[in-house]
Amino acid sequence: MKVGLLFGGRSGEHEVSINSARAIAKAISTGENRNKYELLPFYIQKDGRWLAGQASHKVLESGVPILTTADSVASQSHLGGWEDEEMKNSSQLDNFHDAKMLDCIPASLPQVASVDVWFPILHGPNGEDGTVQGLLKLMQVPFVGSGVLGSALGMDKIAMKMAFAQAGLPQVKYVAVNRSQIWSNPCVFPKLCDRIEETVGYPCFVKPANLGSSVGISKVRSRSELETALDNAASYDRRIIVEAGVVARELECAVLGNDEPKASVVGEITYQSDFYDYETKYSAGMADIIIPAAIPEAVAAQIQQMSLEAFAAVDAAGLARVDFFYTESGEVLINEINTIPGFTATSMYPMMWEKSGIPFPELVDRLIQLALE
Ligand code: ADP
Ligand code: DAL
Ligand code: MG
Repeated sequence: MKVGLLFGGRSGEHEVSINSARAIAKAISTGENRNKYELLPFYIQKDGRWLAGQASHKVLESGVPILTTADSVASQSHLGGWEDEEMKNSSQLDNFHDAKMLDCIPASLPQVASVDVWFPILHGPNGEDGTVQGLLKLMQVPFVGSGVLGSALGMDKIAMKMAFAQAGLPQVKYVAVNRSQIWSNPCVFPKLCDRIEETVGYPCFVKPANLGSSVGISKVRSRSELETALDNAASYDRRIIVEAGVVARELECAVLGNDEPKASVVGEITYQSDFYDYETKYSAGMADIIIPAAIPEAVAAQIQQMSLEAFAAVDAAGLARVDFFYTESGEVLINEINTIPGFTATSMYPMMWEKSGIPFPELVDRLIQLALE
């Protein structure tokens, strides 16, 4: 069975996706999975173009993105050293005789047509938000994870919170903002800031509604920080959310299954940083992971139950990681659901299943089989 692994993608979590894909590709290509599955990687560049064949294998091997001509100069220092001089920019892709520059809607191309099941491991917009899921659904080929609705609701933090509220799940106070209130009308902006101060106060968290890995998120403590943070978040997304900041432990729970999903043991993340930001998430040693979390059994059971309710509330399928705040007063608040959680070396989803008795290769196998149900 040919597994089309879709990774990279047009989002601020492009590099995270490459790292998640590397782990999954390894699991598909080794042990018992090797006899069952054939890996067909498809790398989506930052500009949305699909690459198959040797170029996509090369990205998996090196962990280094193939830059588009537009971002090759700008991003070079951020991405670290290139192991292969030939691949420094996309204009040199012709060096790969079997690298195919596919369209962004590649339904009729040969590698795509031979895929039996898709495994999208794309984080953030244009991958985790229902767009790619819509494309795969139209292709009429099964795929791992949530469908269009679950992906879209799980991605947009404002829509997600509405679904959670409807399901009776407790969460922090928030204000939903549209970019036009920040950029278009100078009279509206001060009133918006007043309303945010009255509703959520300080500290608060300003977030693009459709992103992940803490990209574009600011913790703010004053009016001037709020103004800067709103402007910054608006550069990432039309929709922005501002949430009341809570002082709390951060707990997470993994969900696996379709209509009768199961919840994993609960894990905790601790760190010294101001919050669980991008650097803390992906730099080895910056966060400590405790699985299972040292919390009362009743709290763990409550979190598992809430995770399953959150999974159902957004109509998720296959997999999801649900994240919580556990306050000093013992309150459990849902933070968010991630319908394509990270699978990197520092990612919680596979670790929580490992500690729940499902090793990584078996987890990948189960996810593929769930897609075929
Ligand atoms: P992402 O989808 O990018 O992971 P989150 O909403 O999970 O965004 O926020 C990232 C991190 O920011 C959280 O893990 C937490 O450390 C901090 N954070 C976010 N919202 C709040 C909040 N309302 N109160 C306290 N900390 C928060
Ligand atoms: N958005 C990242 C990948 C996560 O939640 O794990
Ligand atoms: Mg998060």
